Amino acid sequence: METLAQFYIIYPLGLSDLGLMELKEKWNIHYPAQKLEILSEDEGGVLINVTTLQGFSLNHILRSPTRILLRVAEFKARDFPKLFNKISKLPMKHLLIGQRPEVEASATNSKLFDSRKIEKAITDGIEESYRKQPVKKKYLDHFEANKTNDLPKLYYRAVDDMITISIDTTGELLHKRGDKLFTGLAPIRESLASILLAALTHDLDKKPYTLIDPMSGSGTFLIEAHDSYKINNDRPFAYQHFPLWIDYALKKQFIDKFKSAENEKFSKYLGFEINEEVLKLAIKNTVGKNIQIKKGDIFAKSEVLPGDNLIVINPPYGLRVGEKSDINVEYYKKIIQSVREKYNPVRLGIIIPDEHRFNPAPKDLVARIPFKNGGLPVIFYILKN
Ligand SMILES: C[S@@+](CC[C@H](N)C(=O)[O-])C[C@H]1O[C@@H](n2cnc3c(N)ncnc32)[C@H](O)[C@@H]1O
Repeated sequence: METLAQFYIIYPLGLSDLGLMELKEKWNIHYPAQKLEILSEDEGGVLINVTTLQGFSLNHILRSPTRILLRVAEFKARDFPKLFNKISKLPMKHLLIGQRPEVEASATNSKLFDSRKIEKAITDGIEESYRKQPVKKKYLDHFEANKTNDLPKLYYRAVDDMITISIDTTGELLHKRGDKLFTGLAPIRESLASILLAALTHDLDKKPYTLIDPMSGSGTFLIEAHDSYKINNDRPFAYQHFPLWIDYALKKQFIDKFKSAENEKFSKYLGFEINEEVLKLAIKNTVGKNIQIKKGDIFAKSEVLPGDNLIVINPPYGLRVGEKSDINVEYYKKIIQSVREKYNPVRLGIIIPDEHRFNPAPKDLVARIPFKNGGLPVIFYILKN
């Protein structure tokens, strides 16, 4: 039987409970015979115990995490010789391929916090481990052939002197889907869009809805909703440079086993965008998908669009789009009013910067989800009609 390992799935800060919903749903789809073992959850992520290959596969299956780490050690250390010693005893020849990985260090309330010294102790420890247990030639050859690729980084995290060492299985951040090429003004990260869509829809009944993004930009929300059950085989992942994967004989079968599916929550995806140039990009991004994006001004009057409409909006914040002076809470209220008149939505989700202190009536509010978008504190408000 394949060995079990701990994987820490990182989510945008504060949103791991929504990420966990996706994890549970998709685990049941792809691994129906096995109960998911969740070890812990905190505001930054979720720790699970699964087989190594299952952990790797989550990179293809999940759409809301930032990255997925394989946890390799946890120990207390308050001095560098101890850190060196602990690292040198790890079986690096089974985890790395002879490289000196880049080290991402973070420390809170811990004696060891100087990232340069941490990196040195870790690198020396890895060299010592390689010296005692040499890396096999076939892995060294793989390293030679892939030197310029995104090789796994090592993550060092210290909290109150308790250190966790992990190796990245993702590589370039997971929100890079590998298939979307063109971005408009201030696009939202795909992983965030995916999480917010889950928040908007998770407790609704199954009837197919029309998803409308009336300020669709390059189309991120519509594409993420449309591709929600798509398996991502369009990009490489860092786990593909792990010894275990290099040795694995059934790579193609492993990937082919996971089947993409349609998102049954939506029957139609509709977007509007005012800017012609951005509209052109959105149309390119959605070629071959059942997504319609047209030119439209959110404030223009039109016929009411009948049907079970769900609305999602990431309006301009001013800061990044350059209309700061016109953007205040009244602007967002006007957007909401216009959307209600035109689409009579079952529900409406809108991102508004925290600084505007938008304060909807409690009877209108389904949820209020604070997060950071490009560093800016914002709130995703989910409103009833
Ligand atoms: C923050 S961006 C949305 C980004 C989008 N969610 C994405 O990920 O690409 C806001 C978009 O609203 C568009 N916009 C601004 N005013 C508009 C209006 N009155 N009607 C429709 N779209 C508008 C802008 O051109 C911009 O593309």
